[in-house]
Amino acid sequence: MRARVVSGMRPTGALHLGHYHGALKNWVRLQDQHDCFFLVADWHALTTSQPEPEALANRVYDMVVDWLAAGVDPDRATLFIQSKLPEHAELFTLLAMHTPLSWLERTPAYKDWLSRAGTENASYGFLGYPLLQAADILIYQANLVPVGEDQAPHVEITREVARRFNHRHGSTVLTEPEALLTDTPRLPGLDGDKMSKSLGNTIAMRDTPEATTDKVRRMPTDPQRVRRSDPGEPSRCPVWPLHQIYTDADTRSSLAQGCQRASIGCLDCKQPLIDAIVREQQPWRERAEAWLAQPKQLQWVVELGTERARTVARQTLREVRDAMGLAY
Ligand code: TRP
Ligand code: SF4
Repeated sequence: MRARVVSGMRPTGALHLGHYHGALKNWVRLQDQHDCFFLVADWHALTTSQPEPEALANRVYDMVVDWLAAGVDPDRATLFIQSKLPEHAELFTLLAMHTPLSWLERTPAYKDWLSRAGTENASYGFLGYPLLQAADILIYQANLVPVGEDQAPHVEITREVARRFNHRHGSTVLTEPEALLTDTPRLPGLDGDKMSKSLGNTIAMRDTPEATTDKVRRMPTDPQRVRRSDPGEPSRCPVWPLHQIYTDADTRSSLAQGCQRASIGCLDCKQPLIDAIVREQQPWRERAEAWLAQPKQLQWVVELGTERARTVARQTLREVRDAMGLAY
């Protein structure tokens, strides 16, 4: 039997290179070996802020287009939208009856947010964030949950919730999943900080070659390399970590020498990087254009995925209700 994989993303709109290297690349690989369910976690997106209602649909579909652009294949993986499945909300409610408040209160993301925004601004929904995620995972009896390190505590709570449920009900109703941590290093953004939409330092998956070129050309470099004639040091340069992802060892060693001897300029150094990123983006842009040209098809993919997911979700819910005695 193939392992069941569940993962998801909050709909933030068009995705960037960090999403690709941190998650999507892995999803595309996993869909060949496993039975993958990928969800748009739109309820999760509402736990910390409520975007304008008009903005939501675009964010959802821009993200799904980028999943498909990356090579996620709707014939092999099930793509769906969390809020189309009230089953998740029912499981969330039932699991809530078993879950100690203290487990949620000690979640790092929650504590972090409390310390920044204060108790007044933390919603009940946000406290429940990891439990909603647990419902997303457990309702599909997932074996594996590919996530970044920041999400590992949520998978840990999911495991505890499953264990507690099974312990109480003397059976193995819920599968205890394992986190599959992505080993890619955090992709640095245009300023050397982590690539993130909120920091405004991203290269989008669907940026045009012109936009990508422009963004990389404007990137700051080794602050001590003020003039072209000043020798530089790659380890001080925010461009360098991108080279480590995009260019090969030979290219890197000759560029590093050129930098240290001031025999090349920074634009010379950036060009192979620009070429590599633009080359990587090319098939994404082509696939995205094809999907955008047929919006009906796009919607159909999501609807089909949602119905496939519902079949599995209903089965688990039936077992959970039975186990809890809610079978009258
Ligand atoms: N919380 C996850 C994130 O922000 C998104 C998510 C929601 C998720 N439900 C999930 C991830 C289930 C894995 C499994 O990245
Ligand atoms: Fe950075 Fe390359 Fe310029 Fe050196 S030559 S400072 S590594 S961009």
